[in-house]
Amino acid sequence: MNEPYDFVSKLARAYPTSGIRAMFDMAVNYPDAINLCNGEPNFDTPEHIKESGIRAIQNGMLKYGTEPGLAAMRDAVASKYTREFGYDYDISNVMISIGAVEGILLCLLAILNPGEEVIIPDPAYTCYEGQVRTLGGIPVRVPLHEEHGFRLQAEELEKAITPKTKAMIICYPSNPLGAVLTEDAGKKLAAVIRKHNIMVISDEVYEKIIFDGRTHFSLGQIAEIRDKVLVVNSLSKTYAMTGWRIGYIVGADQEIMRYMFKMQQAVASCLQPFIMQAGADAINGSQDCVEEMRQHYERRRNLLVDGLAEIPGMKCFRTEGSFCTFVNIKDYGVSSLDFSKDLLSEGGVITVSGTTFGQMGEGYLRICFANSDENIIKGVERIQKHLSKKYGI
Ligand SMILES: Cc1ncc(COP(=O)(O)O)c(C=O)c1O
Repeated sequence: MNEPYDFVSKLARAYPTSGIRAMFDMAVNYPDAINLCNGEPNFDTPEHIKESGIRAIQNGMLKYGTEPGLAAMRDAVASKYTREFGYDYDISNVMISIGAVEGILLCLLAILNPGEEVIIPDPAYTCYEGQVRTLGGIPVRVPLHEEHGFRLQAEELEKAITPKTKAMIICYPSNPLGAVLTEDAGKKLAAVIRKHNIMVISDEVYEKIIFDGRTHFSLGQIAEIRDKVLVVNSLSKTYAMTGWRIGYIVGADQEIMRYMFKMQQAVASCLQPFIMQAGADAINGSQDCVEEMRQHYERRRNLLVDGLAEIPGMKCFRTEGSFCTFVNIKDYGVSSLDFSKDLLSEGGVITVSGTTFGQMGEGYLRICFANSDENIIKGVERIQKHLSKKYGI
């Protein structure tokens, strides 16, 4: 008789489980709970984009394509970045991906060797660490602090760099923090990046969801390091297209991009042409829908943040961009995970523990406002009622 054999890979066993998924699994038992957990637009994809996808299907755009993606969409992205960053881009600088999640993986596949280190802020979006580990890389977490507006500090970045550092991943506007990158902070980071010659994977999926008159700033705009920056973006948030699974990478270094195109052979081979056609039309078409949704998000940000500010002990970072606010709950003296679980089981509101995004998230809760005004108002009322009953505040 053969010995029983464990067929499951060590990677699969050790792969971090998403805390967001765990919260949703728990929430199944509370069907009336209000969902302030979802980082997903609650808008429908704009009609003209849907129509473009349908037309493309009717026109037979249903065959295999090439690894880097449909030329029409790559061209739309190149024109957008030529316009917005002020440098010349063409399709050799652009790769289309299955959302930003595959975009980040493709960047890592193109540049990372096993044993090399990748700097990841703490807290950060959950997929980065697992993807780095998948490729045998070593994630090195660098703390972000509330007193610095959750912006990565150049000194902290430099302290984390070793001879093994290959790259850093950065995300602004940030999920889960709601912070944006200022030009000043970006330039300080750029000096360190240049000095140590490391690559940057810059997750900018919330670039258009930005508030109070701010404008998005990308490390890819800084001339001295732009060949080191791979900008990862997506249509998921900007155009409410999460289920279409479409994103892209823009890089000034054409050699890296060529290898990235090749690495799509290891993942999906190619993407769906009709979806990329709709993506091209979304980017080339009127951007009024983007501004309209942004205005709704800003109003909802105000509803949530102003509402929470009335509750003692809920110290809310005023979201500068993205769909989420990171709330300091340290005054309650309870772990973030217990706090979020109680809020669900006793208060009827789904949120996420800050620790889902790294250990620096202890003492924080992520609350999202990609929801209706009515649900946000009801959610804040429930949080207030729950805390008042439980802690007598
Ligand atoms: C910071 C960040 N990056 C990437 C993604 C994934 O985007 P996509 O749907 O394009 O894969 C998300 C989705 O929540 C996100 O919040």
